[in-house]
Amino acid sequence: MADPYEWLADDLKTLHRAGWYRSTRVSDGLAGPTMIVEGKAVVQFASNNYLGLCGDPRLGSAAQNAIARWGTGATGSRLLSGERPVHRDLEKALAGWKGTEDCLLFSSGYLANLGTIQALVGPKDLVLSDEYNHSSLRSGAELSGATQHFFAHNDMEALANLLEKERNRYRRCLVCVDSIFSMDGDLAPLPEIMKLAEQYECMVVVDEAHGTGVLGASGAGSLEHFNLKVPIIEIGTLSKALGSLGGYVCGNSTLIDYLRNRARTWIYTTGLSPGDAAAALEGVRLAQSELGRRSQLWENIAQLSEGLQHIGIAVFPSDSAILCGQVGNIAATCAFSEKLFEQGFYAPAIRPPTVPTSRIRFSVMATHTQEMISKLLLACQQIC
Ligand SMILES: Cc1ncc(COP(=O)(O)O)c(C=O)c1O
Repeated sequence: MADPYEWLADDLKTLHRAGWYRSTRVSDGLAGPTMIVEGKAVVQFASNNYLGLCGDPRLGSAAQNAIARWGTGATGSRLLSGERPVHRDLEKALAGWKGTEDCLLFSSGYLANLGTIQALVGPKDLVLSDEYNHSSLRSGAELSGATQHFFAHNDMEALANLLEKERNRYRRCLVCVDSIFSMDGDLAPLPEIMKLAEQYECMVVVDEAHGTGVLGASGAGSLEHFNLKVPIIEIGTLSKALGSLGGYVCGNSTLIDYLRNRARTWIYTTGLSPGDAAAALEGVRLAQSELGRRSQLWENIAQLSEGLQHIGIAVFPSDSAILCGQVGNIAATCAFSEKLFEQGFYAPAIRPPTVPTSRIRFSVMATHTQEMISKLLLACQQIC
């Protein structure tokens, strides 16, 4: 009898042959600029812990206190047994920071995107997505049954053409973009997107996963950066600059009320754990109040970006803590990353199919020291 699972091993062989096979690396030690990766002490340039809050003892204490008070899990969905005071406290803190009427927590940023997009559009509707959008935005549109068209990355003429050609044929239209594109580090032109959205009566979802804590005077993200006060659906994660785990949607109270009743990835899943919610609440407080973290982050970004260009590595255009350097094809990029690792720096090679062209992706943290960045640059120069 034929083995119905045989194709799995064949598929993995294909991935190996294409150089697309992926595997994990174990990191140990408190999350911070230095960690033990696969048993080796390295300076970490691979984490999304932009403000260095994940290893901060104050987030740890907040989580411990919450666990002591409520236990390790939420025990049920928010609509049944899973609602704790810390959930609403965090939702209010996020809404206050972002300047929106309300907020809804999800178990992850991925689930926030899936659930929100699926709730907002259906088979009669249109989703227009930047071609570099995060997988969760694309998957949300696919799950909804709406027609999804992609426009060339950050190309507003392409978006306008699509709207002109397609908008009238559909009931509702949703434009989806990352604010900071996760594999490139550049920023979506939100003011132009909002103008087009108004002209063609579209809803807009912006994924602030890499903007929150990093952009804007108070770290509220791309809308604060552009000083935009517009009706928009802002989705984000608690797992990057905020140092915890979970996702959220911020918007007006009708939207949030609607999602509580319609977003399946919120209704039919266990509430966020109290420990994660409490750590994130402390993360929000510190991201807003400790302004020195953000200014140090931007100093570090400038040091690395200028240093890489100085040694002849082409850096992708970036407006964030994500800096990508071009060092060659898949094999060359993987070899570069491995050599960096041997010299005590962890910066992954990002390659197709995740991105069209291979690159070394450096994630900068506020808690990197100038010396760490100088030594990384020296290592890059030697490898070049
Ligand atoms: C742009 C973007 N959106 C959403 C997510 C998903 O967030 P989470 O890790 O909380 O699921 C990520 C990465 O993890 C991301 O980079």
